[in-house]
Amino acid sequence: MIFLLIILGYLLGSIPSGLIVGKLGYGTDIRDHGSGNLGGTNTFRTLGKKAGFIVTIADILKGTIATLLPWLLQVDVNPLFIGTCAVIGHMYPLFAGFRGGKAVATSAGVILGYTPIIFIILFFVFMGCLLTTKYVSLSSMLTSVAAIIASVIKHLTQGSDIPLIIIMSLLAAFVFYRHRANIGRILKKTEPKVKLFKS
Ligand code: G3P
Repeated sequence: MIFLLIILGYLLGSIPSGLIVGKLGYGTDIRDHGSGNLGGTNTFRTLGKKAGFIVTIADILKGTIATLLPWLLQVDVNPLFIGTCAVIGHMYPLFAGFRGGKAVATSAGVILGYTPIIFIILFFVFMGCLLTTKYVSLSSMLTSVAAIIASVIKHLTQGSDIPLIIIMSLLAAFVFYRHRANIGRILKKTEPKVKLFKS
């Protein structure tokens, strides 16, 4: 049964929200535009606010649903493990030629499913970073580090949760690995900044 959940989690994460919304709604493969990433940010950039919002929410939900699967199906396995399978599916989707996203929204969904309080805190951390730096990519990476710190604080204050610390560290490693090109652009100062407010 655990093996089935691993497969289910991966397949759920493999649902290419950005490709579905882009192709069906706009006749566009967003991987041919902008950063080439199959994620919410590149959908915002390429197709606008409505599409970007839908894709971001769908990508978050993939992680959340996968994390809730062990509870829904009453299987005794750490939900973070199945959530992580969805993140891997999101990065390397079976249904989109293994060219997927950068692990951010689906990881956020895993956190939402496992510990909603930390999700809310990290949302504000992300928004604070974004307002300060104007870089979505940098904000994503900084927030993934904040997730590790939050998991350590939870472990120290609310009872042992080593798996949470391990999985948050793994997800942060995924996020940094998938942002290699962004890191290069940030260092060269060619990474696009977002305009949060119309001037
Ligand atoms: O969630 C991905 C984001 O951090 C960066 O996306 O398209 O700017 O590479 P992008």
